[in-house]
Amino acid sequence: MKQVLPSTRRSDKALRTVSIIGTGSYLPEKVLTNEDLSRIVDTNDEWITTRTGIKERRVAAKDEYTSDMAAKAALKAIEQANISPEEINLILVATATPDMLFPATACFVQKKIGATGAACLDISAACAGFLFGIEIAEQFITSHTYDTVLVIGADKLTSITNWTDRNTCVLFGDAAGAAILRHRGGSHGVITTHIGSYGQYSGILFMPGGGSRCPITRENVDLNLATIHMSGKEVYKQAVTAMVSAAQKAVEQAGLSVQDIACVIPHQANLRIIEGIADRLDIPLERFYVNLDRYGNTSAAAVAVALDEANRTGRIKPGDYILMVVFGGGLTWASTVIEW
Ligand code: ACO
Repeated sequence: MKQVLPSTRRSDKALRTVSIIGTGSYLPEKVLTNEDLSRIVDTNDEWITTRTGIKERRVAAKDEYTSDMAAKAALKAIEQANISPEEINLILVATATPDMLFPATACFVQKKIGATGAACLDISAACAGFLFGIEIAEQFITSHTYDTVLVIGADKLTSITNWTDRNTCVLFGDAAGAAILRHRGGSHGVITTHIGSYGQYSGILFMPGGGSRCPITRENVDLNLATIHMSGKEVYKQAVTAMVSAAQKAVEQAGLSVQDIACVIPHQANLRIIEGIADRLDIPLERFYVNLDRYGNTSAAAVAVALDEANRTGRIKPGDYILMVVFGGGLTWASTVIEW
């Protein structure tokens, strides 16, 4: 392993070290398999598996909202962190499927978990939102503004899925993942995080309806405007390029080389995208944590759920260097290197 001084491993802004002291996740009970989908649209298990790697996904109940899933994941993270909800200063919920346009889903979560002392806001960065949240949390903690921040990635993508469009409906699922970040002495923690956006590609992955540009009307709903619209091939191409470059930047800024990374936790959109990144980064696929076969693409929740699973199953261990790398609608991208 390359030896680096702590001062070069941390970004200059890191006045305090920031650690993830607890993680949690929640998956709805209902499983929708590829076989089930083949009874809804013209598709089959073989196509979905070979093109995406997805075998099944979870679907939230009709009366189970993004904030419900987020709160359940948060309570698990709080329990593991061994803190009380009142200690949380800030709640950040990354989501593309808020309970409502306002108030922020984070406010609903606050009420559900009893985090009475927290400020609350949502982050709109699609699938990259959880790492945007990590970066925002880090800024608040390193600057001594807040001590304890709850970051959640949660999405109920099945609520904005067009179930007649086989190009998209086979890809998505529902879930929530959470992490508690806090200043903790010692060498462990978030080493560096990068976030970025390519607004010029905002037209390749979006939901046109529901905002000020295209309000909810019967006509717009009939036109399926309140569902995900995606140019799959274009997203695929940009995703690989953005994630490779973001990953390389984070590893380099951490003062490490790719050989030092014990586990890569990528956005869980498509196994072929992950294989492409592994190949271009020259990191063996076995070092990537993959759960998209079980959950599909759960947007902002994906990387947070994977982090929690990797943590709870012992896949990542204290002292390991972990690389998380994501992309999403916007386009947005982000990467972070953590010493676990
Ligand atoms: N079942 C069967 N056939 C299908 C299906 C399906 N579910 N979907 C598409 N097809 C057909 C198409 O109609 C097309 O048929 P045609 O040749 O007769 O026209 C054929 O399969 C090939 O379609 P392509 O679009 O070329 O398939 P591709 O290999 O590009 O795979 C996919 C499509 C899986 C969507 C891929 O492009 C991809 O993964 N893109 C990235 C998408 C992504 O990651 N999105 C999430 C972004 S994260 C966020 O912010 C939510």
